[in-house]
Amino acid sequence: MDKKVTVIGAGNVGATTAQRLAEKELCDVVLIDIAEGLPQGKALDLTEAAPVEKHDTTLIGSNTYEDSANSDIVIITAGIPRKPGMSRDDLIKTNMNIMKSVTADVAKHSPDAILIIVSNPLDAMCHVAYETSGFPKNRVIGMAGVLDSARFRAFISMELNVSVENTHAFVLGGHGDTMVPLPRYSTVAGIPITELLSEKKIEALVDRTRKGGGEIVGLLKTGSAFYAPSSAAVEMAESILKDKKKILPCAAYLEGEYGINNLFIGVPVKLGTGGIEDIIQITLTEKEAAALNKSADAVKQLVEDLKKLA
Ligand code: NAI
Ligand code: 2OP
Repeated sequence: MDKKVTVIGAGNVGATTAQRLAEKELCDVVLIDIAEGLPQGKALDLTEAAPVEKHDTTLIGSNTYEDSANSDIVIITAGIPRKPGMSRDDLIKTNMNIMKSVTADVAKHSPDAILIIVSNPLDAMCHVAYETSGFPKNRVIGMAGVLDSARFRAFISMELNVSVENTHAFVLGGHGDTMVPLPRYSTVAGIPITELLSEKKIEALVDRTRKGGGEIVGLLKTGSAFYAPSSAAVEMAESILKDKKKILPCAAYLEGEYGINNLFIGVPVKLGTGGIEDIIQITLTEKEAAALNKSADAVKQLVEDLKKLA
């Protein structure tokens, strides 16, 4: 295939991302991990599934970045996931060090790649990748909003007993407890959910969305979500690889948009061959803008914490 995507981290999110990319025949896939044998084993297992799944994607597993050279996109999932009782922020120091070393290797071998960051705490890890890679801001993108919005959409469809395909939702802000689901911009067949559900019911769905990651951690007990996160990362990669120019909520580096400066936070962006090709500024009510600012303050605090740890 003429496109190449490397996935760093062959754990739950990384391996499932590789599987989804391969089964959609979007690109050649390279899976990299520090654990010896793990990426090789998973890549081989996925290759052996190919005749049954009916795809001709080339999958390589490796422990070295030479194999990832000249990737079009690199999806970074390396890091440790949350365990019960841990917040995303507890992960910060370990994952900061992993993100620094991984991004340095990626930038060396794939200087023109677009980075999709997945590791948590997401918005803070985007800063580490942006600073370490030296890549322009349009080529460093965080995955969170697509996942959080998918969760909101799933809950809306369950509540109204309608197809998920009829749903659309926007969740902006940081990927944490302060995320900002926007009911006014969340619709079923184009109808805002504010016209279909009571305020109390919407508040319950919003609350479940905010706690969506924790709900899965509480059930799995040994790790965090990976099916929906990998779907979200692949939707972003597909929009870039096929230059679809989808508008998706992603963590982007803001320089004045929404009145926020020098910060990665979730906003609607247009994803195409150039990575982030536009940041879409939607109008927010005073209450929505205040919620976004509160979320930005939480991300700023994390970035400050990062600086102290560095
Ligand atoms: P996992 O533990 O299953 O896999 C992580 C993999 O990273 C392991 O195989 C590990 O060996 C590898 N790794 C560690 N250090 C590495 C390094 N220096 N180089 C290469 N590989 C390295 O974890 P899982 O469930 O795949 O989650 C990965 C990360 O993604 C976590 O930080 C998690 O919190 C985050 N996450 C973020 C989401 C989001 O919405 N942004 C959603 C789901 C997970
Ligand atoms: C999630 O939201 C753990 O951030 C991850 O599932």
